Amino acid sequence: MKREDIDQLLAEVGALDCKTQKEVEDARVRLLGKKGSITALFEEFRTVDKDQKKEFGRPLNELKQAAMAKIDELKENAADDGSSDGPKEDLSMPGDGLPLGSRHPVSIVRQQIVDIFRKFGYDVAEGPEIEDDHHVFEALNFPPNHPARDMQDTFFVSAGHLNPILLRTHTSSVQVRAMETMKLPIRVICPGRVFRNEAISARAHCIFHQVEGLYIDENVTFADLKQALLLFAREMFGPETSIRMRPSYFPFTEPSTEVDVSCNICHGKGCNVCKGTGWLEILGAGMVDPNVLEASGIDSKKYSGFAFGMGLERIAMLKWQVNDLRHYFENDMRFLGEFETAPEV
Ligand code: DAH
Repeated sequence: MKREDIDQLLAEVGALDCKTQKEVEDARVRLLGKKGSITALFEEFRTVDKDQKKEFGRPLNELKQAAMAKIDELKENAADDGSSDGPKEDLSMPGDGLPLGSRHPVSIVRQQIVDIFRKFGYDVAEGPEIEDDHHVFEALNFPPNHPARDMQDTFFVSAGHLNPILLRTHTSSVQVRAMETMKLPIRVICPGRVFRNEAISARAHCIFHQVEGLYIDENVTFADLKQALLLFAREMFGPETSIRMRPSYFPFTEPSTEVDVSCNICHGKGCNVCKGTGWLEILGAGMVDPNVLEASGIDSKKYSGFAFGMGLERIAMLKWQVNDLRHYFENDMRFLGEFETAPEV
């Protein structure tokens, strides 16, 4: 190894001048590449005698540093001729649009219901999905041995104490929470997920969604309930819609009713959606049982109220004639894409 070789290359590095990125890259390969001249000197250095290593080691390293610094400097200053790795596209071009998703049918229906009742002056309230027996059953006047408390229907989280913890089986639990915490008069709707220990089929699922409604004030009557539900049905299913109330039973309302809307597909003539009856059942309702008011500390002599509850999957099924509940939960893009496109945020 000769000192001149190092000095000569150092001079070469110092004099290096490149106009384009390609020239810089060529120079880098010539000097520092696998077969580059500086790399070759390092190879040669390995065979140098031990006592000579000191003499060549430092200048050799300095040469390498100088070459790398020079290449970096040239790279920065050379004209971009398209040979560098940098972006080749025209960055001022407008970007590709992202395809918009669509909202889930259950979300669409929930939003419609919330919007309608907001117009009527209702607030929206939410409550926990993991609830206790008190809010789901006890305060709603379910007798201790009522079948709905049965293990068959209810998912228990911890069953072994006085007030078991469970997954709520209906959003009526939120009306109890509203009665406990809100100032009278109360006007709320409570949308949310509910859970029941059901075998999954086209008509039943272990998770579904409900909206609960509650109105408590002085002098609230069954006529008010009927009027509220008629107005709701007409907003939801169209101005021609009529409703029909059939007597029913719920532990938390007295009297209780199941409410049908006129079939908006056949307009009462009878079709396979309404199974030839001209009517579609959409919700349960009634006057809040005085026991329920009292259980949450409301004076049932002074106040009365009505409540109603409906299943969102069912309403969406009627609206879009979905024939299998399982579609809602399977995230099949072909199904989800059938519904209104989400608005741009
Ligand atoms: N909680 C009932 C259910 O899950 C629905 C319901 C019926 C709610 C009548 C009410 C009501 O508030 O008054 O089937």
